[in-house]
Formats: sequence, C-alpha cells, structure tokens
Amino acid sequence: MLTMKRVVAGYGGGRVLHGVDLECARQTITCIVGPNGAGKSTVLRVISGLLTPTEGEITVDGGPIAGRSAEEILRRGITQVPQSHALFPAMSVQENVLMGGYLIRRDRKLLRERLDLVRARVPLVAERANDSAGNLSGGQRRMVEIARCLMLDPGMILLDEPSLGLDPRSLAGVADLINELNRDGVTVLLVEQNVRLGLGLATHGVVMEGGRVRLTGTAAEIKNHPEIASLYLGKEPTT
Ligand SMILES: Nc1ncnc2c1ncn2[C@@H]1O[C@H](COP(=O)(O)OP(=O)(O)OP(=O)(O)O)[C@@H](O)[C@H]1O
Ligand SMILES: [Mg+2]
Repeated sequence: MLTMKRVVAGYGGGRVLHGVDLECARQTITCIVGPNGAGKSTVLRVISGLLTPTEGEITVDGGPIAGRSAEEILRRGITQVPQSHALFPAMSVQENVLMGGYLIRRDRKLLRERLDLVRARVPLVAERANDSAGNLSGGQRRMVEIARCLMLDPGMILLDEPSLGLDPRSLAGVADLINELNRDGVTVLLVEQNVRLGLGLATHGVVMEGGRVRLTGTAAEIKNHPEIASLYLGKEPTT
C-alpha cells in the first residue's frame, strides 16, 4: 500500500528525517514509537503532503506521491486525522463532519451516502448531530475528528497520538473504532506515546530515533524486544 524509501525531509535548512524506509502493507495497523523529536510526526507530514521531502521516494500502490500536494494525496485516499482541537467548536457535530467531505461537496448524493455511512460507523455523529462540537468531551471530539476523515472513504488513515489527553474509557472507544475501520479494510499508520496502547492495537511496529528507523517488526516482536520493553514499557519482556 505505502512505501517510503530513503526519505529525507526537514524544516527550513535543518534535516529531521535522515533517510527513512517504511512499508505499510494493505490493511495493517502500523504504530511508530520513539522519543520526543525522533521525527514521528514529520513522517506523517511527508506522507500527507504537508511537508515535501527533499530526497527519497514515497509510493502508494506503486504510484509516486512525494512532492504532490496535500489535496492530491487526499484524493488518493490517504487522510491524516489532525491533532486535537481541530474541530470548529461553534459548529454542530454534523457540520464539522460534512467539512470532511469538502472534496466531494458538489456531489450531493455521494455526500449524503457518505454521511449515512459515517453515522452508522460512528453513532455519536448521529446522536449528537446538532450539538455544538465545543460541547463534546475530549474523547467524543476525537471520535468526531476521526469520523470527519471518513467522509472521503479513505484507504489509509494517519493518526498522530490519538490517545493524547483521553481518559481510559474514551481511549478504549477510539481503539475500538480504529480496529473496526481496519477490519473494514482501512490501512492505519499511527504515532503513539502510549506505547502499550499503540503496540497493543497494531499489527506492526516501527521504532524511530534521531530521524531514522531503528527497528521494524510485528507489533509482538517490537513489544518483546528487550530495549523496547525496558525503555517504554517498564518491564521485562514476556514470552
Ligand atoms: N514546524 C517545524 N519547524 C521547525 N522544526 C520542526 C517543526 N516541527 C518539528 N520540528 C523539529 O523536527 C524534529 C522532529 O519533530 P517531530 O515533531 O517529527 O518529532 P516527534 O517524533 O513527533 O516528537 P514528539 O514525540 O515530541 O511529538 C524536532 O527536532 C522538532 O523540533
Ligand atoms: Mg509528534
């Protein structure tokens, strides 16, 4: 589905990614972990087209996307769930979700169909349709942020720290939603500080450090890697 080869990128003159290789097979959930400043968010930004890599290749189903605009990449079915506080608080939940269908806004019928699908997938969107987004809890907002991205029926979603600021119950709801989307065929790439949650959810893991990929493997392999277990999970590896 997605392949990155020797991707170099940065901000201004400074390099942040020093040749990143990454592969996400169709319908997998890949979780990137690593210390602050490792370049995790930057990887998501170069994939979604918010940042243009200076070197390297990025392909989606074999087609190159490096250097394409964010809108073109969106049209190819890759959507990034924005950081928290991305909803318009004074607008209703449904209005916020409809904004996610901006690229298909001229096709009223399709827009309606998609909205129905999203309402079925994320019941909160129907239940709180006319409430102001500003009145939702943090966990509910996160669900609506994800729901909004579903309006374009993406093949792949990118999530940057979906667990940030959520209580355990909301966390479980978001994890369930990610799992359900994946079961429906969506490929997921997420960054998580909550390593236990992230690798628990994922099929594959990637460890980044200093703008490079240090380790890749199945989520179980990464979870049980001695360094990861002691660094991030605060325990000895289990079997
Ligand atoms: N907009 C920006 N302008 C300049 N430098 C940036 C910008 N965004 C990030 N950086 C720098 O790039 C490096 C990697 O940042 P990035 O946000 O990708 O790290 P991260 O792994 O997501 O970290 P965190 O876990 O703290 O979110 C950091 O040194 C950061 O200071
Ligand atoms: Mg980050």
